[in-house]
Amino acid sequence: MCGIFGCVLKDGKAAPIIHAALKRLEYRGYDSVGEATIYNGKLYIKKDRGKIEEVDKIHNLDDLPGNIGVGHTRWATHGAPLQVNAHPHLDCSEQIAIVHNGIIENFAELKLELENRGHVFKSKTDTEVAAHLIEEILKTNPSLSLADAVLEAVKRLDGSYALAVISPKEPNKMICARHESPLVVGINEKAIYCASDIPAFLPLTNKAVIIDDGELVTLSLEGFEIRKIADSSLVVREPKFIDWTPEMAVKQGYPHFMLKEIHEQPATLRNTLRLQEQYLDLMATFLDRAREVYLVACGTSYHACLAASYMFSKLAFLATYPVIASEFVEQHGKSVNIDSAILAVSQSGETADTLAAVNCARQRAATILGLTNVIGSTLTRVSRVYIGQQSGPEIGVAATKTFTSQLSVLAQLALRLAKKRGKISQDEMDYLAEKMEKLPDTVETIIQTQEENVKQIAKKYKDAKTFFFLGRGISTATAYEGRLKLMEIAYVPAIAFPAGESKHGPISLIEQGFPVVFICPKDETHKTIVGNIMEMKARGALIIAVIEKDDEEIKSLADDWIEMPKGIPEVLSPIPYIIPLQLLAYYMAVERGHNPDMPRNLAKSVTVK
Ligand code: F6R
Repeated sequence: MCGIFGCVLKDGKAAPIIHAALKRLEYRGYDSVGEATIYNGKLYIKKDRGKIEEVDKIHNLDDLPGNIGVGHTRWATHGAPLQVNAHPHLDCSEQIAIVHNGIIENFAELKLELENRGHVFKSKTDTEVAAHLIEEILKTNPSLSLADAVLEAVKRLDGSYALAVISPKEPNKMICARHESPLVVGINEKAIYCASDIPAFLPLTNKAVIIDDGELVTLSLEGFEIRKIADSSLVVREPKFIDWTPEMAVKQGYPHFMLKEIHEQPATLRNTLRLQEQYLDLMATFLDRAREVYLVACGTSYHACLAASYMFSKLAFLATYPVIASEFVEQHGKSVNIDSAILAVSQSGETADTLAAVNCARQRAATILGLTNVIGSTLTRVSRVYIGQQSGPEIGVAATKTFTSQLSVLAQLALRLAKKRGKISQDEMDYLAEKMEKLPDTVETIIQTQEENVKQIAKKYKDAKTFFFLGRGISTATAYEGRLKLMEIAYVPAIAFPAGESKHGPISLIEQGFPVVFICPKDETHKTIVGNIMEMKARGALIIAVIEKDDEEIKSLADDWIEMPKGIPEVLSPIPYIIPLQLLAYYMAVERGHNPDMPRNLAKSVTVK
């Protein structure tokens, strides 16, 4: 996730307006920032790595001439956060400046093609190909307008984009286009703006036009013109009046960041399906080669590792050790060696316990692999290979989209490894790949159909003193994660364990009215979990079951249930099945009068041991 902004002003300098708008977009990304303007037939540009204030101190971002310009605040996906990788990006002749939010999947092929035609690239980003592609199109068809050249260029891009392009060749115009990344236009009598999100221009105007997927829009002082990318046909759309306060706008109308981030998961899951294959392959090779593999993380990231250990075992027949990072040195420190691989999973890439485990393993010459949300974090710097979880900044303290994105990456990795090791048939591979592709839509359906139901369940159980969360097999990880969410934001003490453990002790806690959440996909564990539900019910527990749609057997035993779409493969089930548990924790916190975004005593990134 990055933030883009652009403006064309009747009077005055664009740079200070861009700078202020980027500050309002900083929640979308903050590892680098940049601006470009046009003045007297020339592009002016300032960009660097670092937070906006840091970059401004060094470069004075307001000090660019011209009444038209674009800006960008970055959350790195391709290329580390370095000055050269910061946006805007330029073509060879420095006549085109572009800012982009999204992921261009086919950038490597396009880059090669353009390099063969003599283009010289400066950065490691996917975005820069778009600048060179537009330049190439204009070189071969000099009579094309900038808008038509951008239109032709975006037709060749696979992936997601919201982009804004300016050129001194047409100094009064800005061309923007959108596919699967947000783009809005704002308008008042003094100027026209484009942005990733409404908050960027909300203090300047509340008249906004939402640009849809597959549309290109030309901005100028005469107004805006929207065209369909597919056939260039004109689209007529009136601006809407936005009555959000700036605070509501940052949360896109949601009352809390946590709820916004829960709802973002269909989009973030789509992003994780755009990973670069070569990194998955490379990581799979290291995992395959290692004598033993440790999956090391804390909190939610550890639960993702726990689920991943089932995926690696079931798909690739690889035994892995999921380890809580703070225990790693004591538990495994001495046994790690040059033949071990450590896959460290950390949203922030800065968690002290995870880095301490990595450090210990590095000293013993183990191979370090990383999965993180923050490219440029310490974890990416110490890893032999790292993969980005591609979910954009997570502001709510409780990890939500982190869990599903990490699992989506880990599932893809397990599939790669299964293929490499010849442990999976082509049919099975195709079946799972197809199901992975559908997960974003599945998650969307769950939110749409179950949110109200979960809200009512939260109302019913809001005064409960304790909860159990139980699952079997891979759903054990879902149970642990559901329990962590409830505890950390709703402050309800809760216990999670594999359902088979009940009889070995915890069942003695059960008395009349004790709520027990069961996670029961229709997989191989279904029969036994029915038995576990019965034994809890017989002792007076109230059963809340997360079930597959129309699972009448469990419905007949449960007091409340949440229905999930049919046909979700067992190994992928934690991704959709966690969604109602995230919502349950959220609504329980709200019902109990707590702010889910700021749980007491917790910090987003734990950088002390
Ligand atoms: C729970 C939560 C924490 C983190 C943990 C690890 O909602 O946010 O448990 O998952 O502190 O953080 P990262 O993934 O940044 O290493």
